[in-house]
Amino acid sequence: MIGRLNHVAIAVPDLGAACAQYANTLGATVGPAQDEPDHGVTVVFIELPNTKIELLHPLGENSPIAGFLEKNPSGGIHHICYEVADIFEARDRLKASGARVLGNGEPRIGAHGKPVLFLHPKDFTGTLVELEQA
Ligand code: CO
Repeated sequence: MIGRLNHVAIAVPDLGAACAQYANTLGATVGPAQDEPDHGVTVVFIELPNTKIELLHPLGENSPIAGFLEKNPSGGIHHICYEVADIFEARDRLKASGARVLGNGEPRIGAHGKPVLFLHPKDFTGTLVELEQA
C-alpha cells in the first residue's frame, strides 16, 4: 500500500543554523522558510535526489512540535512520510487493522497542499508516520 518515501521531517531548535548546516556543511539545496500557521510550524524543504527533508520549527502558541523539542532540545527526527495512492482507502484499511489515526480521523491538507493523515507512533514501532496522497 505505501509507496515512495516522500520526506523525513526533523524538528530543529534553530532553523537558521539547521538551514546553514544543510546548505554549507552537507551541500544540499535548501528552500525558503514557509510559515504554516494552520499547522503551527515554520517549514523548510530540502530537495534531495530521491526524497525530501522537511525541517520543522515551532510557530506561534501551541505548536504541535513544541513538546517534542522540550523532550529533544537539540532536535530530532519527528516523523516520516510515505506516499499512498488513495488516502481514504489507506485510512480505512489501517483502521480496520486496528491502527489509530490521529486527530478526528479525517485527512487534512498538509504542508505540501495534499491530503495527509498521521498514525499513532505506538502502533508503528515508535515512529510517527504521515501518509500523503501523492
Ligand atoms: Co510531514
